[in-house]
Amino acid sequence: MSELMVCKPDPQALQAAYQIHQQVVPQPWRFDTFIDCTTAPYSARVVLQGHRVIGYALLLMVVDEATLMDLGIVEDARGIGAGQQLLQGVIAHCKASHMASLWLEVRSSNRVARQLYSKAGFIIQEVRKGYYPATAHTPTEDAVIMTMSLNA
Ligand SMILES: CC(C)(COP(=O)(O)OP(=O)(O)OC[C@H]1O[C@@H](n2cnc3c(N)ncnc32)[C@H](O)[C@@H]1OP(=O)(O)O)[C@@H](O)C(=O)NCCC(=O)NCCS
Repeated sequence: MSELMVCKPDPQALQAAYQIHQQVVPQPWRFDTFIDCTTAPYSARVVLQGHRVIGYALLLMVVDEATLMDLGIVEDARGIGAGQQLLQGVIAHCKASHMASLWLEVRSSNRVARQLYSKAGFIIQEVRKGYYPATAHTPTEDAVIMTMSLNA
């Protein structure tokens, strides 16, 4: 199996990241919105397996607080540690950018993502009841707000 590597995406890698975004997010953003979320104060990281982009993360950094906006791994590359490696790359990027904390929100039913974040050291800060509105296919759902201190 090719090695995994986390890096800053070039324009071609961003196209690939957007395709993954369309596959993993229930209500994907438009391409231009996605691209807007890769330029300051936002930034992006991708995880490569060999030359293939298999996942992406979008971040917002304001003063010393970072927010993980979105993170996804293409379905056929899950369970091999790519999410974990990408998250570690994001954390390293935040530390190098002198962020004091990293925040995120996750659907309460998203057991796999919650496990990934807990394992990386995130703790639950708050549960926002009914944060995600119901859709034609899903009921109202709580958001779990998680945070990690980046001060060593
Ligand atoms: C959540 C997601 C990013 C995980 O990516 P992944 O590459 O499959 O995860 P990894 O292989 O790096 O696994 C990391 C940890 O996540 C947890 N995990 C991964 N797959 C799991 C599964 N099927 N069941 C339970 N926990 C799981 C485990 O804690 C795992 O660590 P371990 O293997 O040492 O036990 C991926 O499932 C995904 O893209 N989901 C859809 C998008 C999404 O939900 N994004 C998060 C939005 S907040």
